[in-house]
Amino acid sequence: MLVSSSQRLIFSTPEAVANAVADLIIKVVQEKPSATLGLATGGTMEPVYARLVTAFKHGEISFSAVTSFNLDEYAELPPEHPGSYRSTMNALLFDHVDIDKSRTFLPEANGSEPDKSGARYEDMIAAAGGIDLQLLGIGRNGHIGFNEPGSARDSRTRLVNLHTDTLEANARFFADRPVPRSAMTMGIGTIMSARKIALVATGASKTDAIHRATQGGFQADCPASALQDHGQVTWFLDTAAAGLQRAA
Ligand code: PGA
Repeated sequence: MLVSSSQRLIFSTPEAVANAVADLIIKVVQEKPSATLGLATGGTMEPVYARLVTAFKHGEISFSAVTSFNLDEYAELPPEHPGSYRSTMNALLFDHVDIDKSRTFLPEANGSEPDKSGARYEDMIAAAGGIDLQLLGIGRNGHIGFNEPGSARDSRTRLVNLHTDTLEANARFFADRPVPRSAMTMGIGTIMSARKIALVATGASKTDAIHRATQGGFQADCPASALQDHGQVTWFLDTAAAGLQRAA
């Protein structure tokens, strides 16, 4: 019998959510300095990384033996572009802490053989011993990574097309050009292989996605609902995302 240790933690502000998520990451790395972290991008993660940079400066955490794998990366965009997830991770975290950048990995999204690049990413994660803690945001449409509604539950790292809703939501990160329409993403199956998962959601735009993700079992139109079967997921929510707060 699967004994689930999943739990839902609800905080009154997005700042409190970010602090709690950062505290979990600090604890995981203190307990296992060579931890393999699955990292995520998106506005929700920005205060989490800011808190980790502060913790590093205060000597509370060292990333010197950490390996990281990001969930996803845009195609059609050179890694140097400020909107790429490589640039984003450098700017928010990697440039400010003692992580060895040669052990920070993102999917290779611009290769000529995406199937091979996807399989290689899976092999690299396995060779690193699997992911100890996977951070996840959630899209308004219920996506995790760039696994859009309709993604297969056993999907692995692959090239995907982004949904209109995702293109709209992420347009704010692109001043000079449209949002890329495709990306390489870990699959739902890849994410489900992580030993522990921290899903983070703040704000009223996520209330509906969180509601669908946390009840009624797996529904293909809400990829995050697969997490109900994981057993080691902590849902870090503010009151708005948890649906406990009415809009003013
Ligand atoms: P956001 O993105 O944190 O910018 O809302 C989350 C996601 O799309 O996974």
